[in-house]
Amino acid sequence: MHLCGFLIAGPVVHSHAIWRNPKHRTDFFSLGHYVGIARLLERGKFDFMFFADRLAIADRYGASHETGIRHADQDATRMDPVPILGAIAAVTNRIGLGATRSTTYDAPYNIAREFATLDHISAGRAAWNVVTSMNDGEALNYGDVPHLGHDDRYDRGDEFMEVAFGLWDSWDKDALLLDRENGIYADPGKVHYLNHKGRWFQSRGPLNIPRSPQGRPVIIQAGSSGRGKAFAARWSEVIFALQPSLERMRAFKSDVATALVDAGRTPDASKVLMAIMPFIGESRAEAEEKRDLHDSLVNPLVGLSTLAAHANADFSHFSLEESVEQLQSSGSQGNLAALKSIAAGKSITIADAGRIYGQGVMCPRLVGTAKDVAEQMAEIVTSGASDGFVVSPAFLPDTFEDFVGKVVPVLQKNGLFRSEYEGGTLRSHLGLVAT
Ligand SMILES: Cc1cc2nc3c(=O)[nH]c(=O)nc-3n(C[C@H](O)[C@H](O)[C@H](O)COP(=O)(O)O)c2cc1C
Repeated sequence: MHLCGFLIAGPVVHSHAIWRNPKHRTDFFSLGHYVGIARLLERGKFDFMFFADRLAIADRYGASHETGIRHADQDATRMDPVPILGAIAAVTNRIGLGATRSTTYDAPYNIAREFATLDHISAGRAAWNVVTSMNDGEALNYGDVPHLGHDDRYDRGDEFMEVAFGLWDSWDKDALLLDRENGIYADPGKVHYLNHKGRWFQSRGPLNIPRSPQGRPVIIQAGSSGRGKAFAARWSEVIFALQPSLERMRAFKSDVATALVDAGRTPDASKVLMAIMPFIGESRAEAEEKRDLHDSLVNPLVGLSTLAAHANADFSHFSLEESVEQLQSSGSQGNLAALKSIAAGKSITIADAGRIYGQGVMCPRLVGTAKDVAEQMAEIVTSGASDGFVVSPAFLPDTFEDFVGKVVPVLQKNGLFRSEYEGGTLRSHLGLVAT
């Protein structure tokens, strides 16, 4: 089983209640906050920690930033994760370090440099969550062009990856000589120009950084539409998914296996990690109390503000009592489909959707004692629905403290999770082939 700790460098994670919890540390601007979490997760032998990211405040709901900024939706504050991971690299030794960067609002050369640097300074622990971005707000921060259509974003993403991979491969493994005696730094014959000229990008290369310990960062992707899955099948080594039920997890994993084979890879070439939000108590009643306290802190409007940003649509003209079936998306396709799947057969209103989104963006909740939570995780993995989990906290740092202190030992005792790191690189934790 593989484990990833989910974070956003700001007040809100999937849970929009997180900063309102009286026990929550509000020092989410301080490095110490993230370093503490990194050390904790490393103690729990997590494969990696990961920062989600987006590039704009949310102002789709009501065509204004009023709701999102007033109540702190998912986009109200996001600091840049890459510098934070650079600092964390200095005080950790094993845990993988993942950051999100967008192929729609960046240049392949920048990304190739950033992750080659992170991979060098962390001795092979870097991972990149490749996103294509979701909404017009992000487009407006990077120029006056409208946000590209959903499939165009993925087409551009494909070419972006070709260029980035080309740049990471522009130094052969044995190009760096560091021959002090003869004053030979590197073999120029083993450093190659790329000379890429395509529809979206031109990049001559080579990269100005020698090949990093992992060759390139571990590639993570989280597209859940048909086009998104095809993109993930081509490039990813880890796939994040947010599926609200075991049935949908199984269907997702099986779709991914088919897409991987269609892309000419083996059906298990990419590890599928499902997002979960655990609530852990000494008793089930205590865990349920924690969940109820958490949920009582969520205002449905704040969830709707995030949902509107994900869907790149304004829902404010609908009454909160109308059905969720009214909602359409021009941003993320998969998320809205998952939300409607929760509604299937039930009457879920737009206010309910806001509540569900604000409470955890549909992350399935595992509520109970450490043993209950470990058992539910084991069931998901042993039934073949997932290779592991993205653990999304409802309380910080409490969820990770409970998880590392109480759930991880049960998983270890049952032989489902490592007791020690075996290798030094993230690729080795994940059992991926070296590049
Ligand atoms: C666990 C998880 C984490 C994600 N993190 C980000 C993120 O940090 N930034 C972002 O723009 N999108 C993020 N996404 C969204 C996906 O990258 C993708 O854009 C979204 O699922 C829509 O893809 P689709 O249109 O193919 O469904 C995440 C999705 C999941 C499931």
